[in-house]
Formats: sequence, structure tokens, C-alpha cells
Amino acid sequence: MNGDSRNRLNVLIFLGSVRVSTPPRPSRLGDRVARFCTQELVGRGQEVNLVDPLQMALDPVFKPHFAYRKGKAPEHLESLAQSIIAADAYVMISPEYNHSMSPALAHLLNHFGSSLFSYKPSAIVTYSAGQWGGARAAVAMRTFLSELGCLPVSAMIQIPRAAEVFTQEGSLRENADETGWRQYCGRAWAQLEWWGEAARTQRELVDPETVAKPFLSTPSQRNAP
Ligand SMILES: Cc1cc2nc3c(=O)[nH]c(=O)nc-3n(C[C@H](O)[C@H](O)[C@H](O)COP(=O)(O)O)c2cc1C
Repeated sequence: MNGDSRNRLNVLIFLGSVRVSTPPRPSRLGDRVARFCTQELVGRGQEVNLVDPLQMALDPVFKPHFAYRKGKAPEHLESLAQSIIAADAYVMISPEYNHSMSPALAHLLNHFGSSLFSYKPSAIVTYSAGQWGGARAAVAMRTFLSELGCLPVSAMIQIPRAAEVFTQEGSLRENADETGWRQYCGRAWAQLEWWGEAARTQRELVDPETVAKPFLSTPSQRNAP
């Protein structure tokens, strides 16, 4: 528990589903997963903010936040950039679509450069209607999030048959194994909190930009000579 406000982390949860359609039923299963994660982390004393891509109204033309001149990005991108900067840790929630991570989540995250996410941990939460809980998407998300600089903690949360586990409000159903789910998820939350606190302390001691400059113009800045 981190109820002490000194230890409270600012956790930004990304909900990776924009599907408002059936079949398959139920629509937007991710909504209840996000509610559950929010309730759990708030219960552990964290400050939690949810990013819902349905509220973002992204332009169909892809122009990332980092492609605008400083201060000239549209309000919704600028505001999310500030939330990303302010966060100590991230929770990335994704359904599995064709054994891959949510394209909506990848598209949203692609709008922001790694310098905004770097030197902070993330937790991967995947779910599915079927029996694998998004495991294949989760493995691929490790690479994606590592490249963004928000290193995923080792414990992942994978939720098979998520509609049978959670109510629409994000509570565990009566017949769900409450102790089992709390232990399983608690491992990931505990790792996220440990790394989140450690990274925040270290960022306060040493500004990461003084040890490794962010890529500001082109990814080729990381190339070997
Ligand atoms: C386009 C599409 C692809 C899917 N691919 C997978 C898959 O690869 N593995 C899986 O377990 N479930 C798959 N499903 C089923 C999803 O697990 C299920 O529909 C879930 O509710 C999706 O999350 P959402 O409701 O938040 O969109 C797929 C569903 C859709 C719509």
C-alpha cells in the first residue's frame, strides 16, 4: 500500500479499445478492464488518470505531437503530452486483435515521442474473449513499450474470458476467484509501484537528459557509426 501522499504515484492508464460494435459481444470489453485497474490502483493509494482514445478525436491524417513546432500542437495532443510527462508510471491495456496489440492503442502512442515516456515503468494488461488472455499481444507490447522508453515490468496481467471475470462496472463477478485475481494482479501493481518510486527518485537526483540526449530530429540519431 502506498497511501502516504509522498509515495503516491501519478499513474496514467491507457485504454486500448475503440470498438463500439457487435459482434463479437460484448462490445468494448476493455472498458470494464480499465475500470477494474483504476479501482485497484486507487485502492492502493495511487493517483490514477485514464486516457480513453474515444475521447481523443484524432485527425485521420497522422501528424504526431512531436511534428508540431513547440506549443503549436492541437489542444488534445498537447494536453495528453502534458499528462504523459507528469505521470510516474503507465498501465497499457490492450485487447488482442489477430494476435497483435490494439491498433488504436499503437496509433495513439505513436503520436508521442519516447522522450515523454522514458525513464518510467509500465505494466502490460491484456484481455480477450477467449482462453489466451491476449498473451500474444502482450509479448509484442514488451518490444513496443521498451522502444518508447517506458520499460514494462516483468509481471503481466492477462485476462482470458474477461466478460466472465468482470461486471460492466469493473467489479469482479461473484463467481470469480477474488483472492486469486488480487494476488495475480497485485504482483504487477507491486512491481510497477516499486519501479515507479525508484525511477522518480532517480529522476529527481539525475536529470536523464544530462546522461542521454533524447532523439529530437530523427531516429537515425541512435545509429551505430
Ligand atoms: C478484429 C478482431 C480480432 C480479434 N482477434 C483476436 C485474437 O487474435 N485473439 C483473441 O483471443 N481474441 C481476438 N478477438 C476477440 C477479442 O478478444 C474480443 O472481441 C474482445 O472483446 C476485444 O476487446 P474489445 O471488446 O475491447 O474490443 C478479436 C476481436 C476482433 C474484433
